[in-house]
Amino acid sequence: MGIIKALRCAKCGWESSSWTTFRCASCGAVLEVLLEIENLSGSDLLEIQKRKDRTIWRWFEFFPVENRSAIVSLGEGYTPLVHSSRLSERLGLSGLYLKNDTLLPTGSLKDRSNAVGLSRAKELGFSTAAVISTGNAAASVAAYAAAAGMESVVMVPDGTSSAKVLQARAYGATVVVVQGSFDDEVARLYKDALKEFGWYDCLSSNPYRDEGKKSYAYEMLDQLDGEIPDWVIHPTAGGTGLYAMWKGYNELLKLGWVKKLPRLVAAQSEAAAPLVRSFEKGMTEVEPVEARNTVAESIQVGNPISVGWRALEALRDSQGTAVALNDGEILEAQSLLAQFAGIFAEPAGAVSVAAAWKLSRQGVIRRNDLIVCNITGHGLKQPSAIRVSDEELRPIPPTLESLRKQVQRGEVWPRP
Ligand SMILES: Cc1ncc(COP(=O)(O)O)c(C=O)c1O
Ligand SMILES: [Zn+2]
Repeated sequence: MGIIKALRCAKCGWESSSWTTFRCASCGAVLEVLLEIENLSGSDLLEIQKRKDRTIWRWFEFFPVENRSAIVSLGEGYTPLVHSSRLSERLGLSGLYLKNDTLLPTGSLKDRSNAVGLSRAKELGFSTAAVISTGNAAASVAAYAAAAGMESVVMVPDGTSSAKVLQARAYGATVVVVQGSFDDEVARLYKDALKEFGWYDCLSSNPYRDEGKKSYAYEMLDQLDGEIPDWVIHPTAGGTGLYAMWKGYNELLKLGWVKKLPRLVAAQSEAAAPLVRSFEKGMTEVEPVEARNTVAESIQVGNPISVGWRALEALRDSQGTAVALNDGEILEAQSLLAQFAGIFAEPAGAVSVAAAWKLSRQGVIRRNDLIVCNITGHGLKQPSAIRVSDEELRPIPPTLESLRKQVQRGEVWPRP
């Protein structure tokens, strides 16, 4: 299993003497997990790649869980990496691949994080897991807590899509809908609650959980037969995906298992684009913004307080970039993804495709670059984003004549 050497502060070097202290006592930054992996060799890579396990745990040496028996798995990872010739042709991007994380156990990328986070919680003996969420993390924490035999408390801002709230409830979570915004009221209440109740923190302020999205790097290495993408584009909110992918790829580089690194791209909604703004200004810390409403509700975060600065670092060090998309561009990408590639993503999950297209139109990405777009959340998470007219859904009499009329009308309904 993964051997944890330390929880260390990447800013000032402070090391925790407790496995349950997640923040630096000296500067307040979220700590980072240091694993003992430097002794792995090329033959270990071959051994890993021979394993039959098709979950993230195929790479268990790279995750901070020390006892195999503590692993809580719902089969997460190794989601399809799809090349859609129709979508590639439509967008003029021949090397476009879609990492379909809508197929993770609870329908979003959060399962990569929570499989690791909740396994470690079980190992450390916690009984209640908690999280605040724009929706997807709530459902994911609830599911993994259920599988681990733990209680869960999830808090969401009012206005969160009811599908996500119901999903968390179905797994048995205590769901608390809080008046206010994610960045302000909900975040403040959560901080107080963790202190008051001693719950296990499943937010990006948990260093164990943050290791989970490193799995993107390992999986892509397998799925692209050792080739490294020119670009990996990630719908971004808290910044964990960018930070963790960069860490994962760099681990592989240090071990000599890959020879180059991809350029990373943060794709955000224009209504909540603190990373894009801070990246454009060349900052090393994220300047929070007031998040406005956006159809990409899952990534409506204005203050990526925990690891946002590390995501900025990943963008800079990888010579990547950051791009903001408006709601029209996001909905168009969602629609193209569904109707050309057969992948139904929630709007936030399709922001990466909108970004790929925009960057290619701007000439940043070239037509035949190898691009991976992470598709991070299922469309059924937010069904209200799909516009269907009453007329389309009105029942027709069961006659061929009515059917013909309806089908002909279908031809004029808008398609991308
Ligand atoms: C659908 C979806 N995509 C992407 C993200 C981005 O997360 P992060 O930037 O922390 O990787 C989230 C979560 O906030 C999400 O729910
Ligand atoms: Zn520190």
